[in-house]
Amino acid sequence: MGVGTKKYAWVIVAICLYQWLCMANARKSVHHNAQNDEKLRCNIYEGKWVLDNSYPLYDSLACPHTRREFDCLKYGRLDHQYLKYRWQPHNCDLPRFDGKTFLRKFRGKQIMFIGDSISLNQWQSLVCMLYSAVPHIKILQQGSGSYNNYTFQDYGVSVLMFNSQYLVDIIEEPIGRVLNLNSLKNGDIWENMNVLVFNTWLWWYRGGPKQPWDYIQIGNKKLKDMDRMHAFKLGLTTWANWVNTKVSPTKTKVFFQGISPSHYNNGEDSNPYPLKQIHTLLKHDKNDANDRGKGTRDRGMMDRDRRKVSHNLGKLKSARDNVDRDRGRMKYD
Ligand SMILES: *[C@@H]1O[C@H](CO)[C@@H](O)[C@H](O)[C@H]1NC(C)=O
Repeated sequence: MGVGTKKYAWVIVAICLYQWLCMANARKSVHHNAQNDEKLRCNIYEGKWVLDNSYPLYDSLACPHTRREFDCLKYGRLDHQYLKYRWQPHNCDLPRFDGKTFLRKFRGKQIMFIGDSISLNQWQSLVCMLYSAVPHIKILQQGSGSYNNYTFQDYGVSVLMFNSQYLVDIIEEPIGRVLNLNSLKNGDIWENMNVLVFNTWLWWYRGGPKQPWDYIQIGNKKLKDMDRMHAFKLGLTTWANWVNTKVSPTKTKVFFQGISPSHYNNGEDSNPYPLKQIHTLLKHDKNDANDRGKGTRDRGMMDRDRRKVSHNLGKLKSARDNVDRDRGRMKYD
C-alpha cells in the first residue's frame, strides 16, 4: 500500500463511521417521527472538510492497537493539523462520534471490515476510537488465519478484520494460485455479521511479483491474464450476487467502499486510472423490497436499492472513460 493511503486513511474512517451514526439517526426518524424526513434526505456525501480544533477524536499515541506504520505520530510527524479536519455535509450536521454511545448502540453486534490494507486501517482506527472511550474495558483478542476479532467485553461488541484483497477467492491448485472470479467461499463467515464494510480495488491492477495469483478463472476457463477492469467487474458481480442472495437485510447492513482517494497520484502507482475519489455505497435494509419500483425518489447516498451495485459499476466505467479523456482531472458522475 502506498504511503498516500495511510495519510488519508483517517478521512475514510471518518466517513465510514459517520455513515453508521447518521443512519442510526435516520432509521430512528422513520420509526418514531415520520415528518422528520429531512435527515433521510441529507446526502452526507455532499459536503466539505472543515478545520475543527476539538479534533482528533483520539490520541493515537495512547492506543496500543494501531500498527506503527499506520501511525504518523509514532513515527514522529511534527505537524498535527492533518488530524483536525471534520466532515461537514452541506445540508445537515452529523453527530460527533461518541465511543460509548456507539458501543451501546452496537451491543452484542459484530462489525466486520473486509478487504485490503484500507480496511485494515479502518478496523484499527475504529478499535482505537472505541478503546479511547473505554480504556478500562477488556478487549478480548482472537485471531485465525484470515481474520482478527477484537471484542469489547462489557458490551459484547466485536470489531473484526477479514483480509481479502479481491473479495473473491484465490485457490491453491496444482497448476498454481487461481483467482476464481466466481467463487466467494468466505461469505459463509461474513453472512453472520451485523455490519459488513467491504473494500477492494488496488490489487486488481497489480502485476509482476506483487500479483498474488498465477491464473484467473471464469467459469471453467483458466486464463493467464485478462482485462483487469473486466475482471474487477466480474468479481464484484459475484460479490453483489452473494449480497443479494445470502445476506439477510433484516440482520446485516452492507457497505461497499469504492476506491480510496490517494493511490493514483499522477502515475506514482502502476494503476492506469488515477481516479480521485469514488465512493460506492451499498446499503440495504428491511425497507429494501418496499422501495423497489417506486421510481426515482431521491434517497441520497443512503441508497436502499441493492441494484445500485451494478449501477455503481456503471459509474466506475464512466469514470474511467472520463479519465481517458481528461487524465488526472477526473470527475465522476
Ligand atoms: C468474535 O469473538 C466473540 C467473543 O469471543 C465471539 O462471540 C464471536 O463469535 C467471534 N466472532 C467470530 C466471527 O469469530
